[in-house]
Amino acid sequence: MVLQRLGHLLLATLLTLAISAYADDQPCTLHHGGNFYDLSPLKARKDYELDIEGGRKFYLNVCRGITTDPWNAGVSEGDGDIAGLIRRDHGDFAIGIVNTTLEMVEGGLMIRQFNGSPCKSMDNVRGSSSIRFICDTSVFAAGKPALIDKFPQNTDEACHYEFEWKTHFACPTGERGFLSGLLVSCIITAMIFLMLYTVASTLYNRFVLRLSGPQLMPKFTLQHAYELLDVSYELVHSLLDRFGVTSGSWRSRGRRDLNTASHHWVSREEERTVFASDSPEPDLEDAAPERELEPLNTQQDPESDHDEADGTVRL
Ligand SMILES: *[C@@H]1O[C@H](CO)[C@@H](O)[C@H](O)[C@H]1NC(C)=O
Repeated sequence: MVLQRLGHLLLATLLTLAISAYADDQPCTLHHGGNFYDLSPLKARKDYELDIEGGRKFYLNVCRGITTDPWNAGVSEGDGDIAGLIRRDHGDFAIGIVNTTLEMVEGGLMIRQFNGSPCKSMDNVRGSSSIRFICDTSVFAAGKPALIDKFPQNTDEACHYEFEWKTHFACPTGERGFLSGLLVSCIITAMIFLMLYTVASTLYNRFVLRLSGPQLMPKFTLQHAYELLDVSYELVHSLLDRFGVTSGSWRSRGRRDLNTASHHWVSREEERTVFASDSPEPDLEDAAPERELEPLNTQQDPESDHDEADGTVRL
């Protein structure tokens, strides 16, 4: 049955919505081993700044591009946002493009960044870096990165950098575990649908069933839900019809034929009578199919021609 299939479809949509709302890892977050990690609080309006390699300035941001203007870094804007750079004598050296994918490597959160400035000592190799975030509850503020290693070792030719960053932001945040998050988004989705149902049910009671007073209260029966679904389905279809999405199929075709010039009235009297009988009854839908047949009948029946010539009204 169409309605039953529609119901299943709705249920499946609900579940998919609820799951995808939660299961999709947001940028700079990670679900791992039942824990949830979120490094996005480390995004800073002003770059993290530190002195490395004998007083050279190093600028870094997390999960977003640096705010410091690069100079002669050899990275075009189309490549992405520069994750960090080192001021060198003949131009800045970008250590990679922002990457918001977190990885768990040997018990530590890791961000890897590639495609920085062209490396001096190697052809077709570009600057890259990895930052290892270590959970440290004793670091109350954001903390700072520390340079652990670089390759090659030569300060002016170094191309790959490795940092370590102790911060409490790298610790798992318990309260938003996967299952509880899934539960929360399920409940929220269910509440939204409950609200929609309540509104739709009330409108249906008021405008379709023409009830009033306490009878307007939404009903929570399967029968009522099916009726609502049916009406919504018709509504959507007629809307689609109106905007020409479906090819004029469905019931509205009957209605159109009745109202346009394609319906030729047999006599003025008949026209008047039909219109008169129309007016007290605003719902055309039920009466439409019968009236549609009238002109056909009158043409096929030779006696009726005679009647019309006499000016009598046949209904
Ligand atoms: C981002 O990091 C992930 C995991 O380390 C890596 O697989 C991916 O290639 C990186 N993407 C870019 C564009 O650097």
